[in-house]
Amino acid sequence: MKAILLAGGNGTRLRPLTNLMNKHMLPVHNFPMIHYAVQTLAEAGADDILLVTGRQSAGLFIDYLGGGGQHGVRIAYLIQEQAGGIAQALELAKPYIGKDEKFILLLGDNLLEEPLRPFVEAHLAQDTGTAMVLLKEVPDPHRYGVPVLEDGKIMRIEEKPCYPATSFCVTGIYFYDGSVFDIVADTVPSGRGELEITDVNNVYACRSKLFYRRLSGWWMDAGTFDSLHEAAGWMKKRASAGNEADT
Ligand code: DAU
Repeated sequence: MKAILLAGGNGTRLRPLTNLMNKHMLPVHNFPMIHYAVQTLAEAGADDILLVTGRQSAGLFIDYLGGGGQHGVRIAYLIQEQAGGIAQALELAKPYIGKDEKFILLLGDNLLEEPLRPFVEAHLAQDTGTAMVLLKEVPDPHRYGVPVLEDGKIMRIEEKPCYPATSFCVTGIYFYDGSVFDIVADTVPSGRGELEITDVNNVYACRSKLFYRRLSGWWMDAGTFDSLHEAAGWMKKRASAGNEADT
C-alpha cells in the first residue's frame, strides 16, 4: 500500500525554531518528529511512501531517512515549492496513484499511539470513491477541523470553528483512493490562500461518502511548543516502557 506523508508547511507556530529548520526535523524525545510518522506508516503496512516537503531542509530528510530501508519501506521525495495547503501538497502525488488505488495520507506532525493497521483494513473493505477520517476527542477542538455529526454520520467538517459543534477533531490521518484527485482539482483556495483538506473532505461528506472511526489511544498534533513538549514526554514514556519490557 502507498502512503503520502506531508512534511511541508511553514511551521509558523514553532517560530523561531522553524526559521532554522523544517518542523518535522525537530526533536521529539530521541528522534526527529518525522521518524515516528514513518514508523507509524511502516507498521500500518505501507511499503511505498511519498514524502512531500518544501525546499527548506529537504536534504536533511534525505540524510536522515534515505531510501527508507532502515524502516523496511521505500521512500521517494516530492518538493512543494510554496506552502499552498494540505490539499495542494496531496495533489503533487497524483501521477503516482492509480484511479481506484487506496492510500493513506498522513500529516507528519501527527503522532499517535494506536496502530493504524485495523483502520487500513476497514478502508480497504470500503467501496471505491469513499474516504475515511479518524476522529479524536480533544479538550481544544477549535484548533482543528471539527466534525458536525448527525445520526452517526459526518454532515460536514468546520475548520477551526470559534464555536465547535462537537468535542472531536478530525486528525491528520486520512484514507482515500485516486478519486480524491478529481475533488482536489475542483478545490479553490480558502481565505488564508490554501487548498484546504477540509474542503476536500466536505465534498465526500456532501455525497454521503465520508466515513469515520474513532482513535482511542493518545494522539497529538505536535505543531505548537506545548504539544511538541507533551509529545516528547509521551515518546519518552513509551521508550522507557519498551526498555522495561525488553529486560
Ligand atoms: O492535525 C490535524 C489538523 O491538521 C486537522 O484537524 C485540520 O483540519 C487540518 O487543516 C490540519 O490543521 P493544521 O492547522 O494543523 O495544519 P498545518 O498547516 O499545521 O499543517 C499540517 C501538516 O501538513 C504539517 O505536517 C505540515 C503539512 N503541510 C501543511 C501545509 C499548509 C504541508 O505539507 N504543506 C502545506 O502547504
